[in-house]
Amino acid sequence: KYERTYFMPPAVSYDWVKKDHIDKPPIWCSVDLRDGNQSLIEPMSLEEKLEFFRLLVKIGFREIEVGFPAASDTEYNFIRALIENNMIPEDVTIQVLTQARAHIIKKTFEAIAGAPHAVIHLYNSTSVAQREQVFRKGKEEIKQIAVDGAKLLKQLADETVGNFSFQYSPESFPGTEVDYALEICNAVLDVWKPTPPNKVIINLPTTVENAMPHVFACQVEFMNKNLKYRDAVILCLHPHNDRGCGVCDAEFGMLAGAERIEGTLFGNGERTGNVDIITLAMNLFSHGINPQLDFSNMPEICQKYEELTRMQVPARQPYAGELVFTAFSGSHQDAIAKGMNYRKEKQTATWSVPYLPIDPKDVGRQYDSDVIRINSQSGKGGIGYILRQHYGMTIPAQMKEEVGYTVKEVSDREHKELSPQSVYQIFEDKYINNN
Ligand code: KIV
Ligand code: ZN
Repeated sequence: KYERTYFMPPAVSYDWVKKDHIDKPPIWCSVDLRDGNQSLIEPMSLEEKLEFFRLLVKIGFREIEVGFPAASDTEYNFIRALIENNMIPEDVTIQVLTQARAHIIKKTFEAIAGAPHAVIHLYNSTSVAQREQVFRKGKEEIKQIAVDGAKLLKQLADETVGNFSFQYSPESFPGTEVDYALEICNAVLDVWKPTPPNKVIINLPTTVENAMPHVFACQVEFMNKNLKYRDAVILCLHPHNDRGCGVCDAEFGMLAGAERIEGTLFGNGERTGNVDIITLAMNLFSHGINPQLDFSNMPEICQKYEELTRMQVPARQPYAGELVFTAFSGSHQDAIAKGMNYRKEKQTATWSVPYLPIDPKDVGRQYDSDVIRINSQSGKGGIGYILRQHYGMTIPAQMKEEVGYTVKEVSDREHKELSPQSVYQIFEDKYINNN
């Protein structure tokens, strides 16, 4: 049944594995308005893209890929609207995607005319599969496509008013022989000849995530060590999530030398999505690193995202889903309550409450309503907590167990979660009204 074979990218070197933590956030670039948008059942309208752009700026993104202007009128007009209405804050750089084809590059420059600054992102596909099956071209011809594109970008940027910088992506990087990917990137760099502080970006997209994360990180390390003009290059990653390891690719890749990450909110994007920047940022936060992005009002971000993309944030989405801080089970509720008390007693600054990876308050969630919820799995501690917190009642120690069983029994019989009001009602019926 499972006899098919697949291309398996080889690992090349291993130094990154000796590092145990990431000590600063990467440069973040949101590709929600391009990769995220192009994968939606119903792509965003111009107004929706504008609203999403404002959301990204409010969160703190300073680099935003706003679209592929040659792809559709909406894409083109959106970029024009941003520029003509002066909607791009001074400290925000927009990025636009273009294939390495002359007429598409020219259209891209028309779209960004008048922008104070922008990154022009050039790509062509370099993997064995794409070379053989899609382009039916050899390595030299594929390299020439990238080099010609890079030359045209440089020429048009020189002729256009504005402050433009460049990015190159060897699309389908993990399926490309790593020494060949290096050869193409270096050939593009030889055209641009960047010098600090005017850096260019070399972006390694996983496109389809077909390598294991440690193998991908070895490939990133190889590029990091061998790229030319390294002090004038920002090494960027653009992980996708086909194997479910986008976050891991990004974290290992940063250990291996990447300095910039492209991704989306909640991992929207082609197929299984792009890497989820929220998870990456909050993972850093949970290790004491300020991610320089503001997710302190996650419920509002979820609601806006769902409204604009017509996608849903899953209940178990890290740091954001409805249930990610919730404990129904008695032993978890008990440990969390004890952890919270310990924290109060000791006045500790470090967060280490069992079962809660971060303080839910840091992403705008409430301990009272989001953490302790009651169903048939719950325990006396959680039920006592609800009665105390919502109704100011302290159940005497001798009664706690019985009250717990009384409430749980109703949830079990009716097979449903109980609101604080129902918990109180059950208590009142039995112990106050003696029913
Ligand atoms: O995933 C990908 O390869 C892309 C490129 C266009 C950068 O989105
Ligand atoms: Zn992509």
